[in-house]
Amino acid sequence: MLVSPSMLSADFAELKNECKRMKECGCDWLHLDVIDGVFAPNITFGVPVVKSIRSHSDLVFDLHLMIKDPLKYIERFAAAGADFITFHLECDSDIEQTIDKIHSLGLKAGVALKPKTPVEAVIPFIDKADMILVMTVEPGFSGQSFMADMMPKLKKISELCQGKNKLIQVDGGISEKNIALVAENGANVAVSGSTIFCAEDPKAVVEFFHSF
Ligand code: DX5
Ligand code: ZN
Repeated sequence: MLVSPSMLSADFAELKNECKRMKECGCDWLHLDVIDGVFAPNITFGVPVVKSIRSHSDLVFDLHLMIKDPLKYIERFAAAGADFITFHLECDSDIEQTIDKIHSLGLKAGVALKPKTPVEAVIPFIDKADMILVMTVEPGFSGQSFMADMMPKLKKISELCQGKNKLIQVDGGISEKNIALVAENGANVAVSGSTIFCAEDPKAVVEFFHSF
């Protein structure tokens, strides 16, 4: 399991050090939650913050765009240093065009499903996308409870991705208690915010996640 710590749980006054700390804990990626206050009920950060921290981290930048019209901002997030850009199937942009735009800039593209969005919505885009993100909470905030009822959806998506070399990411409430369950159901990238950032020994948590 790859580990992508959600910086939404970081101390924003210490972003540079928090990036360093995550690297020292053995994290593979950095998960950056961009929320516009329209797509989901929170406002986090945007292009300038991504650009600022880029010079302080060589980890893979895994952007999770929870914004209404991602297509408008792909170029700017690419220039700011994104490696992966994941956006939501429930957004207003054209999905195929947005994936193509991400790929045209040499980046990897992910598509995300909110908890109420059915598997069928992602089927037309599985071949094109590099990563599918199955949300295990409603988008917006760190520290929410994991929705175990997303497991059949996760399993179905991993079956559809069989043999296609896809990354399957889970995000929301991931902890030591459910990492085995999400792995069993096919996830291979774990996003984790509060569990890693609030841990007494975050390195041990990351090592534990890596063991699945
Ligand atoms: C929620 C975000 C998540 C969140 C995860 O909208 O997409 O990445 O920060 O935090 P935890 O692991 O605390 O649920
Ligand atoms: Zn996220």
